[in-house]
Amino acid sequence: MSSQLKCFLFLLALKITAYASENPPNIVFIVADDLGWNDVGFHGSREIPTPNIDALAYSGVILNNYYVQPICTPSRSAIMSGLHPIHTGLQHCPIKASSPYGLPLDMKILPQYMKDSGYITRAVGKWHLGFHHKEFTPTFRGFESHYGYWSNKIDYFNLTADEDGRMWGYDFRRDMNIDHDAYGIYATDLFTTEALSIISSHNTSRPLFLYLAHLAVHSANPYAPLQAPQAYVDRFSYIKDERRRKFAGMLTKLDESVGAVVTALRDRKMFDNTVIVFTSDNGGPAGGYNNNVASNWPLRGVKASMWEGGVRGSAFVWGPDFIRQPPGTVSDQLYAIEDWLPTLYAIAGGNVSHLPPLDGINIWPSVSAGVPVSRQHLLHSIDPVFHGAAVRSGDWKLLFNASGDGASWDKWFGPSGRNETAPETELSLLIQKIKDSPAGVAVLEKNPDALNNITLTRNAAMINCTAAPDEPSFVCRGQNISDACLFHISSDPCELKDVASEQPDVVKMLLQLFLQYNSTAVPILNKASDPNADPKFWNYNWINWLDFPPPHGVNATETAVFGQPNKFL
Ligand SMILES: *[C@@H]1O[C@H](CO)[C@@H](O)[C@H](O)[C@H]1NC(C)=O
Ligand SMILES: *[C@@H]1O[C@H](CO)[C@@H](O)[C@H](O)[C@H]1NC(C)=O
Ligand SMILES: *[C@@H]1O[C@H](CO)[C@@H](O)[C@H](O)[C@H]1NC(C)=O
Ligand SMILES: *[C@@H]1O[C@H](CO)[C@@H](O)[C@H](O)[C@H]1NC(C)=O
Ligand SMILES: *[C@@H]1O[C@H](CO)[C@@H](O)[C@H](O)[C@H]1NC(C)=O
Ligand SMILES: *[C@@H]1O[C@H](CO)[C@@H](O)[C@H](O)[C@H]1NC(C)=O
Ligand SMILES: *[C@@H]1O[C@H](CO)[C@@H](O)[C@H](O)[C@H]1NC(C)=O
Ligand SMILES: *[C@@H]1O[C@H](CO)[C@@H](O)[C@H](O)[C@H]1NC(C)=O
Ligand SMILES: *[C@@H]1O[C@H](CO)[C@@H](O)[C@H](O)[C@H]1NC(C)=O
Ligand SMILES: *[C@@H]1O[C@H](CO)[C@@H](O)[C@H](O)[C@H]1NC(C)=O
Repeated sequence: MSSQLKCFLFLLALKITAYASENPPNIVFIVADDLGWNDVGFHGSREIPTPNIDALAYSGVILNNYYVQPICTPSRSAIMSGLHPIHTGLQHCPIKASSPYGLPLDMKILPQYMKDSGYITRAVGKWHLGFHHKEFTPTFRGFESHYGYWSNKIDYFNLTADEDGRMWGYDFRRDMNIDHDAYGIYATDLFTTEALSIISSHNTSRPLFLYLAHLAVHSANPYAPLQAPQAYVDRFSYIKDERRRKFAGMLTKLDESVGAVVTALRDRKMFDNTVIVFTSDNGGPAGGYNNNVASNWPLRGVKASMWEGGVRGSAFVWGPDFIRQPPGTVSDQLYAIEDWLPTLYAIAGGNVSHLPPLDGINIWPSVSAGVPVSRQHLLHSIDPVFHGAAVRSGDWKLLFNASGDGASWDKWFGPSGRNETAPETELSLLIQKIKDSPAGVAVLEKNPDALNNITLTRNAAMINCTAAPDEPSFVCRGQNISDACLFHISSDPCELKDVASEQPDVVKMLLQLFLQYNSTAVPILNKASDPNADPKFWNYNWINWLDFPPPHGVNATETAVFGQPNKFL
């Protein structure tokens, strides 16, 4: 090799290295609302195909030991702050639309960090971190734009949010402006169209951070909870449960959205330089919980519980140009939802040691290169009002009064989707569907071998348990923490066998850990509902009502809701 050529190659190498750090990847962060462990094909169910989601998962890294919070607000606060909700005051119950509080303003949050790193930051879909004053809303917190809703859920078609049958109003905006044009259009389509328009008009001289937080597959208002275009519901005539058929339509819309986003990235020549994160926000509301029919099978429990079904997330990271593990790697590293802030900051080229102290850790070296994480312990949560808690150390999990709002949610809820007999659910057909899906086509165009390993990956990502009983023989519920249950999660992910009495030393160790976490918890921020928030005073819109003169000249007193005193121990 001539010295001139050597010199050229050397300079080229330098340029490539410099390019990598100066031009960090686009990040598309997709949050599915209320999606169960078993609602994605890559965890083994064949009941409802999710070919686009699966195509990315099977060619990315599947996070199979990854924990989210049991409910929505805590999870979103953890994504945004990098802190566990016991450190933001958002650990108890989601924020009600009419409650005047939100993610505290003294915290610098994810989009602000991304903006500092040179990103264009855009939010589409759900917020749910407070809106009583404008300062709590997305465009005042680091997002350059937001298109979507502020409350916990809306009707999929008319975009209204009902609160406990007492208050009701329209909740849909472009930035701070109420967007009436959106009325009547299926919510998932609104968000997809917006994401596509953001991508196609994106000026690639700066990287894009797109936070795409879907309404799907959350239930809408109680009078019409499960909504999908009829043609989508009709595709699933082989599913007997009518509610699950509607759910399948909602999920299919979500999956198609993922495919459309991938196609848009490809068309804009941004696909190669993009990292896609997909995550659920909490476990699935199964068996009718929240008027919904997600599936966490074979995991135990539902959304809002600290059983595995409530907290084990469905997630993957895709970005073959930045990931040095083989496509379809199934990671069993212990990750948590509060890890995203430091992780995305690192992907953006930031130095994580410059971040303030956080609960989350940078898992990028682990996700991208398989480096084991240093995490030994993990707090699921402590709910000081419901007196429930769950804490994890290594393979062990201690759990006390973990259920949502009643013992009936302590069970295992199907469908399993593994023994489907309909022709539509034949595995070979599903695999072909994955390869033919828009995401599959784009993935294969980049790497023709990327989806050679689907069956192996799928088998590795499944959780198999011995059949669960119909009725649990124990529920880990009692008057004090001496009734706590202990599970060895790696060998008993379905929480079938309480081994607390056999392992008193482990219980003691985990109790200590719980007390340690508990001693750092801040008080809950929950506030009573403010009658002045009622949309009937504001043209039937949910607005940042405390920025305006009160409807009757009197502002409600902002009283805190503290529930009963903590009854642990
Ligand atoms: C919104 O849709 C629900 C049913 O999905 C219906 O009950 C309600 O009346 C609708 N409201 C408006 C304003 O269209
Ligand atoms: C993209 O941004 C760069 C840098 O700000 C600017 O020079 C360029 O004109 C922009 N391109 C378009 C098409 O707006
Ligand atoms: C990150 O910041 C720390 C503290 O300022 C510094 O010691 C370290 O060298 C930095 N790392 C990189 C890769 O720049
Ligand atoms: C599927 O069917 C097989 C054979 O009938 C049975 O052993 C297995 O338990 C079933 N699995 C599920 C998840 O229903
Ligand atoms: C195939 O999948 C298995 C299981 O996830 C994984 O260990 C392996 O590395 C994958 N192989 C290739 C070539 O992608
Ligand atoms: C789960 O069971 C299926 C057979 O039903 C098997 O193919 C798969 O490898 C198993 N996966 C794990 C992780 O045990
Ligand atoms: C357990 O939690 C539920 C709410 O999830 C609560 O109503 C109940 O009082 C709690 N039980 C005890 C013993 O604290
Ligand atoms: C705690 O629960 C145990 C077992 O149910 C019971 O024997 C004990 O009296 C309880 N202690 C307190 C302080 O309530
Ligand atoms: C109510 O709160 C708003 C916003 O904080 C403020 O502008 C207004 O003066 C208050 N009204 C009363 C009657 O206290
Ligand atoms: C947990 O911390 C709270 C204060 O944040 C305290 O009231 C409670 O007693 C603690 N629980 C235990 C079991 O120490």
